[in-house]
Amino acid sequence: MSFFKVENISKSFGGVQAVQKLSFDVSKGEIFSIIGPNGAGKSTIFNCINGLYAVDQGKISIEQNVLTGLKPHQIARKGVARTFQNLELFKYMTTLDNILLGRHTEMKAPLWNILGLNIKNSRAAKEEVQHRLKAEEIIDFLDLEKYRERPVFSLPYGIQKLVELGRALATEPKLLLLDEPAAGLNNEERQDMIFWIKDIRDELGITVIVIEHNMHLVKDISDRVLALNFGKKLIVGNVEDVLQDEEVIHAYLGEAIH
Ligand SMILES: Nc1ncnc2c1ncn2[C@@H]1O[C@H](COP(=O)(O)OP(=O)(O)O)[C@@H](O)[C@H]1O
Ligand SMILES: [Mg+2]
Repeated sequence: MSFFKVENISKSFGGVQAVQKLSFDVSKGEIFSIIGPNGAGKSTIFNCINGLYAVDQGKISIEQNVLTGLKPHQIARKGVARTFQNLELFKYMTTLDNILLGRHTEMKAPLWNILGLNIKNSRAAKEEVQHRLKAEEIIDFLDLEKYRERPVFSLPYGIQKLVELGRALATEPKLLLLDEPAAGLNNEERQDMIFWIKDIRDELGITVIVIEHNMHLVKDISDRVLALNFGKKLIVGNVEDVLQDEEVIHAYLGEAIH
């Protein structure tokens, strides 16, 4: 029985068929990559998985729980977290507070309590302690200690990407969706990102689906790769087979596979 399953999903925008009758499975503990030229429908798949978009047809499930039809916060509670192609952080808030905000799907107490203001009752106080412990654990895990009180806008881009990763981890996901985690990173930052993604799978046991353009990263981390073009599956398999596939090479013509 597969851990995560996408069955025959389609999504169109007016005349644009962004995703067409797409199916794939991901096993528990796998690092599964999705590649394809710009506009192939990769981000749309993530938006369908996490409920930002409603699919036109098809079904998505995790451990037998159907996700299609649920709202993004409900899908987050089922253990699915994501990062975005363009960073979505609160730039004027600190690293710590951005990561704490990742706990909002868990939160029973109001946000102002979580952010440490005006704690009125003991349940909220206890919850806040738990949230802070978890956030500190993540800061420790991602080696963000020296940035914890710094506003995010003041940090190098590679560190900002890590803070976003930390915020996603704060929800304690089973499945992590990373949309172009290496975009905009220099070589050294990209190597670090590769290290963190492997660590998240190896140390935390989290299953990862990653959309990525950078083939160094794809080759280095992927157990399997799905290649897409015009919203359709070209091939799914191990990295070598996929990158040698004629249709994949053809799809990338005019766009370097780097
Ligand atoms: N919200 C939207 N409204 C209209 N068209 C969209 C929307 N999201 C994506 N698309 C279109 O769907 C196609 C796939 O986009 P996307 O999933 O972002 O591609 P990728 O992430 O592979 O670059 C593109 O043609 C894009 O313009
Ligand atoms: Mg995209």
